[in-house]
Amino acid sequence: MSSIPFHEIPTPCFLLDEKLLKKNLELIADVAQKSGAKIILALKGFSMYSTFHLVKKYVPGTTASSLNEARLGAYEFGGEVHAYNVAYLENEFDEMMQHCGHITFNSLAQWEKFKTKIEKNPKKISCAIRINPEYSEVETELYNPCIPGSRLGVTANHFDKILPEGIEGLHMHNLCEKDSYALERTWLEIEKKFGFLLSQISWFNMGGGHLMTKEGYNHAHLIDFIKSIYIKYPNIKEIILEPGSAFGWRTGYLVSKVLDIVESGGKEVAILDSSISAHMPDCIEMPYTPQIIGAEIADNSTFSYKMGGLTCLAGDHVGPYSFPKKLTEGDIIVFEDMMHYTMVKTTTFNGVNLPNIAIWKENNSYQLVKSFGYDEYKARL
Ligand SMILES: Cc1ncc(COP(=O)(O)O)c(C=O)c1O
Repeated sequence: MSSIPFHEIPTPCFLLDEKLLKKNLELIADVAQKSGAKIILALKGFSMYSTFHLVKKYVPGTTASSLNEARLGAYEFGGEVHAYNVAYLENEFDEMMQHCGHITFNSLAQWEKFKTKIEKNPKKISCAIRINPEYSEVETELYNPCIPGSRLGVTANHFDKILPEGIEGLHMHNLCEKDSYALERTWLEIEKKFGFLLSQISWFNMGGGHLMTKEGYNHAHLIDFIKSIYIKYPNIKEIILEPGSAFGWRTGYLVSKVLDIVESGGKEVAILDSSISAHMPDCIEMPYTPQIIGAEIADNSTFSYKMGGLTCLAGDHVGPYSFPKKLTEGDIIVFEDMMHYTMVKTTTFNGVNLPNIAIWKENNSYQLVKSFGYDEYKARL
């Protein structure tokens, strides 16, 4: 149970608990050290750069899925910047090469297009191709990179027996909030389909989706699995994991306030000063129902409410939740686990303000990092 005095936090607010982030970072660094894997932060999942001074004490770098993320990695994090972009833009590639030491291409054609630039670049950049293992255990289609017809990665039938000259690595990403057993099963598929390439590479990037900070994750199994690959393929000098979610997993909250309670069709809805669709869109996209501190995800009490967002999108709501007492205007609602894939995905639809970004520091003090207003809304239009 958190000891943060949520009722004192100006709302709406994405509030990171520094000590929980540190706990995740310690665990991630320990797995990296024991397994020999290089673990880097996927900025697409967690880009709260006000924490990077801390994160970079534990991991050596970041991975970017666009030039802007590569800039953020280079300017705000430092260390290694890796990149995998679905496609690179001609007019951005020179700058991409400035920032990145590892670049992964999504297709053989993209590699052909940019390989001369790579060869001529004075700085050594190590390049890879993303493979599509045509195997994934991700249940939600939206998050499954291996559905038939997926544009993500090259399937085995497109490769010649020998990798294109200049390609030193392979990259795959097919997990989403999965354990190391799903990774192991994926690897068996990769060996079956891409085994002929595995002796030709010096590094393998196993993408993200490794939720190693979730309770119950078997770290010893992941560590043994990675070590076994190093032993089986002595040519593979570096195994890279690039999770995003695992860093931010259960490290903070979206703190909101009840503005109104409306009744409709016998059901009550608490209207919040935040938005499900604009501030926590995965709840609608996935979809899933986030936990609220002190409430149950259920419709089984006298005090059952849906949480309604501030936009006029009809579906901007989540729940129902059962509370131990009647909700009233001014009550504080604290959504749990709101650090990953939230701040990076927010919108200002309807002109709704973005939540503040703040940190609950280890010394129990509140640090406001950023608040947003008309300027940020206007700047995007
Ligand atoms: C290529 C790639 N790497 C890493 C990640 C991070 O995954 P996660 O945040 O689930 O760990 C993603 C997520 O979509 C991805 O597409």
